[in-house]
Amino acid sequence: MKESDMIFDIIKRRRSVRRFDGTTIPKEAMEQILEAGRWAPSGANAQPWRFIVVTRKEKLAEISDFCYYKLFKSRHVGEASAAVVICADPDAGSQTYVLDAAIAGTNMTLMATSLGIGSCWIGAFEEQNLKKMLHIPEKLKIIALIAFGYEVGKASVPPRLPLSSIVHYETYEDKNEPDLITKKKSSGPFSVFGKLLRVLFNRR
Ligand SMILES: Cc1cc2nc3c(=O)[nH]c(=O)nc-3n(C[C@H](O)[C@H](O)[C@H](O)COP(=O)(O)O)c2cc1C
Repeated sequence: MKESDMIFDIIKRRRSVRRFDGTTIPKEAMEQILEAGRWAPSGANAQPWRFIVVTRKEKLAEISDFCYYKLFKSRHVGEASAAVVICADPDAGSQTYVLDAAIAGTNMTLMATSLGIGSCWIGAFEEQNLKKMLHIPEKLKIIALIAFGYEVGKASVPPRLPLSSIVHYETYEDKNEPDLITKKKSSGPFSVFGKLLRVLFNRR
């Protein structure tokens, strides 16, 4: 396979995995994932990220309690094999510390995919409670958490907007704006209805 095809294949195969079997991730694999984060680019090469790796089951379960958005709970965090809490230091010398940390996270999820390890970004959490629990210094900002583990089943592929509705060449032209129906379709079939069902039946 061409290198470009290999990279695209990993990018496309990365899914948000919400069912994990709880198997331990080997130390070497976890280190490769963290190394991929370490090699991310950052503003002024400030490397403002700090990663906290949590693997203890009881801690993951506790973290999971802090991860929710309104009625939507990210219970899969409690079933993951590991969670990496991505923090960033706003004073590390990069104005783009949030972006930097997000790029590091992206590198990690792609590396995980290449190793056959599932991942899921978690952006909804109680920052202060997490900070307290993990003894994270007040000056750091928690950017996101990423749950890692071996997938049970196979996550469906949420559709993407077509290039024709998101790319503008040379200047921005309104005619390309995706209409509401295209947007809805591309954010997952029966997206809202499906989410509601999952909440009602305690699924994800
Ligand atoms: C910054 C960010 C925050 C996210 N937060 C959550 C979350 O709190 N809980 C969750 O289950 N999924 C979360 N996701 C996963 C998205 O729902 C998912 O990426 C999207 O539906 C596309 O699916 P895919 O990742 O399988 O391509 C988040 C993704 C990103 C990039």
